[in-house]
Amino acid sequence: MTLSPSNWPKKLFTSTTVIHVLVFLSVASSTLEAAAGGSTFELELPDAAQSEEIKVKSTDFPGDFVFGVATSAAQTEGAPKADGKGQSVWEYFAAHFPGIVKDNTKFPDGIDSYNRYMDLGVGSYRFSIPWTRILPSGALSGGVNQKAVDHYNSLINELIKNGIKPSVTILHFDLPQALEEKYGGYLNRSFVNDFRDYSDVLFKTFGDRVKHWVTINEPKVLALYGYENGWAPPGCTRRSIRFTEPLVFGDYPKSMKESVKERLPAFTEEEKTALTGSFDFLGINYYLSGFARNEPNPSPEAMLPHEIDAKASDQVAKNGVVLGNPLGSYPEGLQKLLEYTKTKYQNPNIYIAENGVGGFRNDTMPLEVVLNDGFKIVYILRHLNAISKAIKNGVKVKGYYIWTLLDDFEWGTGLMFQYGLYNIDFNDNFKRMPRLSAKWYQAYLQKT
Ligand SMILES: *[C@@H]1O[C@H](CO)[C@@H](O)[C@H](O)[C@H]1NC(C)=O
Ligand SMILES: *[C@@H]1O[C@H](CO)[C@@H](O)[C@H](O)[C@H]1NC(C)=O
Repeated sequence: MTLSPSNWPKKLFTSTTVIHVLVFLSVASSTLEAAAGGSTFELELPDAAQSEEIKVKSTDFPGDFVFGVATSAAQTEGAPKADGKGQSVWEYFAAHFPGIVKDNTKFPDGIDSYNRYMDLGVGSYRFSIPWTRILPSGALSGGVNQKAVDHYNSLINELIKNGIKPSVTILHFDLPQALEEKYGGYLNRSFVNDFRDYSDVLFKTFGDRVKHWVTINEPKVLALYGYENGWAPPGCTRRSIRFTEPLVFGDYPKSMKESVKERLPAFTEEEKTALTGSFDFLGINYYLSGFARNEPNPSPEAMLPHEIDAKASDQVAKNGVVLGNPLGSYPEGLQKLLEYTKTKYQNPNIYIAENGVGGFRNDTMPLEVVLNDGFKIVYILRHLNAISKAIKNGVKVKGYYIWTLLDDFEWGTGLMFQYGLYNIDFNDNFKRMPRLSAKWYQAYLQKT
């Protein structure tokens, strides 16, 4: 199936927008100073009870715990034709479906990070390498693009020289458009071979220095965005996270096979053996929690296909109550998810590969207000506190990556949200300015 306006998420602008805007409407009832390194940061808390949560320090984590920041290529790099790059499905989609992708004409330029390096001051940097730069035609038979190889060699070397551990996402939504057109992308088993070939090239080329690989970013979101008419935040319900099961046990869960039936491709015996316990760590991207309602008699009119299959529907609110204060900030959900994952999936190593919150862009707001993102620091600290509690309960969380380093292009929502530790001025040559959160993170990671 090809992406088209009729199957693009219509729900996208309801749940996310409402939740994030309300972050700003929350009234502060308490102001507190949080210590980080030798500095203090004044933070407003929506609820005085949160003052305990924000006391968590970087030194409360195990010595080898990795603190990082994350980005993805399609959202930041720009330079869509530089060094012989091929077209990704996202470049095609943004160009052909204006109106569905907000600010779509700004997508190709990203924030020009392909041409700009920066000093990060963190322990690890998670970024993605675009398949279409390394293999512009999508397939290995089309040749490896040496210019792109040189580019990422130099980026990786620069990171390592500065003591920053590279963590590379192999596929972050930017599938080659050529493969979409050739055989329908993910829906065809040929994808497996091409993905293997591409991954092999990355391992052979960069694997001597990159020891940490994230295979496919948010496979569930990818399926929802691309192939359903909806968008769902990471849920807490068991059935909605069961796609992890094959990686641990070598097959889909029985309940899933029973409900999806012949639409669920079967693994061969060889694949089952290869899959079982095949990962070194699970990457969890966590932003917020919603509710899942049990739907013993799912309705095809009112529910999305994955909800029908799961016999559970995604709900933002239960009896009119939405999780989190401010809305969308629910660290308890992360702790529960981590503890559930430990029990259910044989206590794997886990990285929080993304966590963060975006302010609503408003170009008439004074710059000092835009840079003063204390709410983001509170959000991050409360989630770090939840992770720290999960670690004390035996969950093997090995690292944490803030989404994101720099304001970027947030897919269908375009430039609407400002997740960056750095502000980007889209009217002035992508000028970068550190927000309070950038200064705080650097101070926080100083082990004094
Ligand atoms: C998968 O793609 C190949 C071409 O690479 C094509 O021959 C085959 O029919 C496709 N299979 C399906 C199920 O679409
Ligand atoms: C944008 O910011 C200005 C100045 O602070 C404010 O007056 C206006 O209400 C804001 N607009 C929205 C949509 O929040």
